[in-house]
This record gives sequence, structure tokens and C-alpha cells, in this order.
Amino acid sequence: MKIIRSKNKLKRLIANEKNLGFVPTMGAIHKGHLSLIKKSIFECNKTIVTIFINKPQFNKKADFKKYPRILKKDISILKKTEIDYLYLPKNNQIYPEGRNKKIKIDSFSKKLCGKFRPGHFEAVVDVVYRFIKIIKPNKIYFGKKDMQQLILINNFIYVNKIKVKVIGCKTIREKNGIASSSRNILLSIREKKIASKIYKMIKTKKERLISYEVSVESIKKKVYQIGVDKIEYIKIFNINSFLKPFNKKLNYKIFISYYLGKTRLIDNF
Ligand code: PAJ
Repeated sequence: MKIIRSKNKLKRLIANEKNLGFVPTMGAIHKGHLSLIKKSIFECNKTIVTIFINKPQFNKKADFKKYPRILKKDISILKKTEIDYLYLPKNNQIYPEGRNKKIKIDSFSKKLCGKFRPGHFEAVVDVVYRFIKIIKPNKIYFGKKDMQQLILINNFIYVNKIKVKVIGCKTIREKNGIASSSRNILLSIREKKIASKIYKMIKTKKERLISYEVSVESIKKKVYQIGVDKIEYIKIFNINSFLKPFNKKLNYKIFISYYLGKTRLIDNF
């Protein structure tokens, strides 16, 4: 694994790669990231991972500040995989002239997380597009845990005819059911138990929720009873209606975002 900090050096190194897989991350590497990495290693000749905590996509300064930074540990975990390149850029390499505030993305960005984090998805798509232009990968890997992010990036790439194949990868969960996340480090044992109970409760009610036999309101009540401090949203969407090209088949998913203490968790089922 080559660790690269310079954009020009990276461009020289990967200029002739023919089947390059790219896994963008913000670090605090966990099982979820590793599953994307494994898939890329399996499907591509070479794999590149980036770790870059993208400040513009954080709405709250405090959230950016407390985001886990454990680079040494990340490097030692990644060394045990078979990735070829780890790119660790500094801010000025990604934003030499600041960010693109005019980026246009699908209006789905205004729903779910986007409603509570204005500008978040624009900043995510902006940074991903910057990386695509530097790396020019053949395939790029995203987790379905962040389904809205995956859909919006996929739409942007489709609409702008960018030459890269987007691969969505299944959500990896801990033994107790909660989705692996860099933010889980911030949870207490009690909070993890609450998150696990919510996962199990919603999972058992999924079919009845989708068929309207159980109301979203009653689920919200249960989530509060389990011990959540604040629910941001619980919503049901047919995700195929947001995917470009449009897919007629129904594919309902339940989306949830809530706070345990100051930690914000999202999931979809
Ligand atoms: P980050 O949260 O580090 O996640 C990097 C990738 O790992 C994303 O595609 C995310 O969906 C995926 N991932 C996270 N947890 C997962 C899980 N439990 N199972 C499967 N995949 C999982 O998402 C970001 O970083 C950033 O927004 C980024 C795309 C890097 C842009 O800054």
C-alpha cells in the first residue's frame, strides 16, 4: 500500500491504471468501509482509498470538531487489506480555489437528511466529483447505509454523463444490529443498547409499516419510549422513484434519523 499526500504524485502514479476502484471515506475505518474495499479489490485491478474529512459537508462546527480522527489506527488497518493506494490530501489540494457553491443536484437532496442539513449533499457531491476528476476511477463504491447520498451521487453522475460506474454496497451491521458507523465510537454502552432495540423494533414492523397497517406516528412513539432524545425523521419512500434512470418497480425503504445525546444516527431498512 502506497501512502500518497501529493496530488501531482498521485496523478503520475495512477495515470495508466485501466481498472481502478475507488473507495472515498472520512476515516475511522470500520467493517462497513472494509466491505466496500473488499468488493473493489475483488472487482478491480487496483484499489485506491481516500481519507478526507470534508469540512463543508458538516453543518455544525461541533460535529466537524468531534468527528473521530484516528489516522494511525486507520493506516494500520488498511495495511492489512490489499489496497494499492491510500490518498491523504490536505484541504488546499482538494479546494485550491474554494468550494463550488453552484453545484446542481437532484431535488431529492431537499428531503430526509437534506431538510435538516441544508447544503450537506451539495458539499458531498462537490467533493466526490473533485476526487473523481483527480483519480479518474473506473468504479466508485458507496454504502447503502447512506442511501440518500448514494442516490444523489448516482443521479449526478448519470445526469452529467461522468464516466464512472457507481457500485452500491449492502449495509454492514454489528452483532446487535446497528449499522457500523464511525460515529458509533461516540456512543455509550447504554446508547448502543437503545440503538439496537430501535433496529430490532423497526425491522419487525417494516412490512406492516409499508402496508400502512402500522402508522409512522406509532413507531415514533415507540422510538421515544425506547429512550431516544430526539427523532429528526422517520419516513417511507419508494427509492426507485428517485433513481435515474427511473425504475418502475416499487422498492419501499424506511428511513430514520435520530439523536442519542449529541450523536446523530441514520439508518434505512
Ligand atoms: P464515510 O462516512 O467515511 O463513509 C464512507 C463510505 O462507507 C460511504 O459510501 C458509506 O456509505 C460507507 N459506509 C459507512 N458505513 C457503512 C456500513 N455500515 N455499511 C456499508 N457501507 C458503509 O460517506 C462519507 O464518508 C462521505 O460523505 C464521503 C462519501 C467520503 C464524502 O466526503
